[in-house]
Amino acid sequence: MARIAVVAGDGIGPEVVAQARKVLDAVLPGVQATEYDLGAARWHRTGEVLPDSVLAELAGHDAILLGAVGDPTVPPGVLERGLLLKLRFAFDQYVNLRPSRLWPGVAGPLGSVKPGEVDLVVVREGTEGLYAGAGGSLHRDTPAEVATEESLNTRHGVERVIRDAFARAGRRERRKVTLVHKTNVLTHAGSLWARTFDAVAAEHPDVATEYQHVDAAAMFLVTQPQRYDVVVTDNLFGDILTDIAAAVTGGIGLAASGCINPEGAYPSMFEPVHGSAPDIAGQGVADPVAAVLSAALLLEQLGHAEAAARVNAAVAAELASRTPGVTLRTEEVGDRLAAHSAA
Ligand code: NAI
Ligand code: MG
Repeated sequence: MARIAVVAGDGIGPEVVAQARKVLDAVLPGVQATEYDLGAARWHRTGEVLPDSVLAELAGHDAILLGAVGDPTVPPGVLERGLLLKLRFAFDQYVNLRPSRLWPGVAGPLGSVKPGEVDLVVVREGTEGLYAGAGGSLHRDTPAEVATEESLNTRHGVERVIRDAFARAGRRERRKVTLVHKTNVLTHAGSLWARTFDAVAAEHPDVATEYQHVDAAAMFLVTQPQRYDVVVTDNLFGDILTDIAAAVTGGIGLAASGCINPEGAYPSMFEPVHGSAPDIAGQGVADPVAAVLSAALLLEQLGHAEAAARVNAAVAAELASRTPGVTLRTEEVGDRLAAHSAA
């Protein structure tokens, strides 16, 4: 039976994760979940972010379900770098998977797209690029201060994430991969990405390909999000583009993600794209759909495709039944989703 580590985290994290767990229990009775207390509260209490002993324990699980970490009282970077990025790097979660669908019943901000028309997935590189932590600073707090932040791109790292994108596209109806980069300006990294993309594309004649600069992609995600199927891109571009994709498909409360180690050498981690939302924490009004859809991605990754499909169907029914303007209650949505998923 699947062994899942749960890091509920801060703010609305525990509120939405509780609903995702209800749904997991409903579709996979007997699933073993172990809670790990990490995040802002623990850092305040003990100064610990992610002790090595906890990292080692997490490694023994099949997957990690994470809510959100972060709090205005913790300096920026402490939890993001020390927990989220550390886990992604330590567990070699090089595929950061971020699907976006415009679900029927959801009022997106775009008049030009109809529900059901947008169904894309961004495969964001998760372990390299500008997030690798290569850089430093000199002469801090003086007029001569210098800061560098370098983008690291390896052939190995680029090739494996592009291969994953093509494999995913091959399993989807439209079979199309768009490479997004900025090859005209970032010529060193861009050339590596473009050449690697072309080489992998040559092995997949059944998959259509296109290339876009990231600024054009930002525009097209707003004006024509229907045109995308699978998008593969580097760490920073993917971070930004997936917020746009979430915004045009009904908002951050619906956006799910997986940080995946496709080989299964380490556990993959599934989390809503949103953060701890301190502005609404404790009110019981956070939308748990993003967390529940993240649990569906977890189920898929662990090979429970039928259970994942039931969760997706429950989400579709939930969203189709919503009345705009009516405040939802986190618990009630979770109860409905669990009941529908179990059926
Ligand atoms: P946020 O995603 O927490 O909130 C942005 C806005 O979206 C807020 O108005 C919030 O109320 C709303 N929102 C977010 N999730 C929602 C949900 N499920 N239902 C309804 N409304 C929702 O981003 P923000 O405010 O920039 O960051 C807050 C904290 O979270 C920071 O400490 C940040 O570092 C952290 N964070 C953590 C992430 C993670 O753990 N993966 C990701 C993003 C931010
Ligand atoms: Mg982000």
